[in-house]
Amino acid sequence: MCQNGYPIRLVEPRIIQGGMGVAVSDWRLARAVSLAGQLGVVSGTALDVVLARRLQDGDPGGYVRQALDHFPLKDVAKRILDRYFVEDGKEANKGYKSRPVYSQEPPEALTELTVAANFVEVWLAKHGHSGPVGINLLEKIQLPTVHSLFGAVLAGVDYVLMGAGIPRHVPGILDRLSNGEVAELKLDVHEAKDTDHKMSFDPRQFLSSIPFPTLKRPNFLAIISSATLAIQFARRVGGTQGFVVEGPTAGGHNAPPRGHMQLDETGQPIYGPRDVPDLEQIRELGLPFWLAGGYGDENKLQEALNHGAAGIQVGTAFAFCEESGIRADLKKRVLEMSKRGELTVHTDPLASPTGFPFKVLRMSQTAADEEVYQARKRICDLGYLRTSYMKEDGSVGYRCPAEPVEDYVRKGGNIEDTVGRKCVCNGLMATVGLGQNQKGTYEEPPLLTAGDEAAHVAKFLKPGKDSYTAKDVIDTLLAGVVAGV
Ligand SMILES: Cc1cc2nc3c(=O)[nH]c(=O)nc-3n(C[C@H](O)[C@H](O)[C@H](O)COP(=O)(O)O)c2cc1C
Repeated sequence: MCQNGYPIRLVEPRIIQGGMGVAVSDWRLARAVSLAGQLGVVSGTALDVVLARRLQDGDPGGYVRQALDHFPLKDVAKRILDRYFVEDGKEANKGYKSRPVYSQEPPEALTELTVAANFVEVWLAKHGHSGPVGINLLEKIQLPTVHSLFGAVLAGVDYVLMGAGIPRHVPGILDRLSNGEVAELKLDVHEAKDTDHKMSFDPRQFLSSIPFPTLKRPNFLAIISSATLAIQFARRVGGTQGFVVEGPTAGGHNAPPRGHMQLDETGQPIYGPRDVPDLEQIRELGLPFWLAGGYGDENKLQEALNHGAAGIQVGTAFAFCEESGIRADLKKRVLEMSKRGELTVHTDPLASPTGFPFKVLRMSQTAADEEVYQARKRICDLGYLRTSYMKEDGSVGYRCPAEPVEDYVRKGGNIEDTVGRKCVCNGLMATVGLGQNQKGTYEEPPLLTAGDEAAHVAKFLKPGKDSYTAKDVIDTLLAGVVAGV
């Protein structure tokens, strides 16, 4: 069952439920999709904080503790529980415990937490069935990546899906981690003259107190927006089992338009014919591909199959279903707004500290509301989207254009880059009910992202119902496939 050391999937999924951070596609959603026979994908983004906060909320249902019980290093699991678990949950008006922010030399407690958190999320998504489960990470977030991947591999993850940048080192990292070899991720450090910055992880050392287990090398799917990138992965990078080809209507971050970014009269990036990927060229590479971005509708799967795709990846439709991690009150508001035709999605070229266009739902009482945004005191305490830069003394510093303006400028950042930037880390945490209470001064406001299709997401509601399930989405998507295809 192995070709060139890679597992062969005899049956490729028709539908991939796209990875949605932070914890929107949590283990519950991915599990529900896998149980329905398609590929459920957990988001691997910021899982260290997600796990620590779930434990501080008392771990309702005991799921995190159940998974930690299966983590191979008992002492690590115990340390995490001792540090974070709060019986019956922390008091609502108290903040969550802070944890150290990632750097090139993270404390051991943080790397342990990251490995364990990714293990837990995948373990829970896979528990009790044999359906495949994937994990999604973003290339733009580099520092926790190797540890996250190892946690997922340790839990037997079947697919790794990565985009938001060019994750060219990841296929090799997956080979090495599953073989128990030291894996290194090269880091981008601004203003650095040398290129010798990396995150390194030794799986055997990490598991030195137990016999090294047999680990499966998951399939790697690169999320791309152009045939050029597909060709690069297929011909030069190798170790890539397929592609998700994502267009600019998709939720989350979007690839910027090719060439100089131009905005329309509403301030959104203008995409043109050059941004349409050449599917013919991608098809010729002979690897399976899934189309993403606006494929959450009845006839779209058939349309993708007609283009030679193996299927589709859908996010937005799943983001507002019962099993997704988004706060129930926010999902309800989105569905009501969609029903009334009042929901607008804005492709914001500034919101994300990454500099990539980021889709936001224009909703009051969220960070997309100008008043709420202005009222929030800038704090950078999660730091996933910080980038590394070389300080004058030769050491490496970290900065984020959404951090306090004076800090960013002191670190050599351009003041213009801070304009309109939103704290995506804290905003997304709040969206899934894990928002920080900032030292009793304010609750972090949520920030919702979704694709253009969010406006019509109420179409999944059955008559008389005010919510829908992941299975409802899958049934709708499969219904449009012509029999026999
Ligand atoms: C709420 C939300 C969060 C997302 N977060 C991520 C993410 O963390 N990483 C990623 O690669 N894609 C992310 N996406 C994109 C999805 O994985 C998927 O490719 C996309 O939603 C497909 O297009 P659609 O939204 O039109 O269905 C996100 C999408 C949504 C709706």
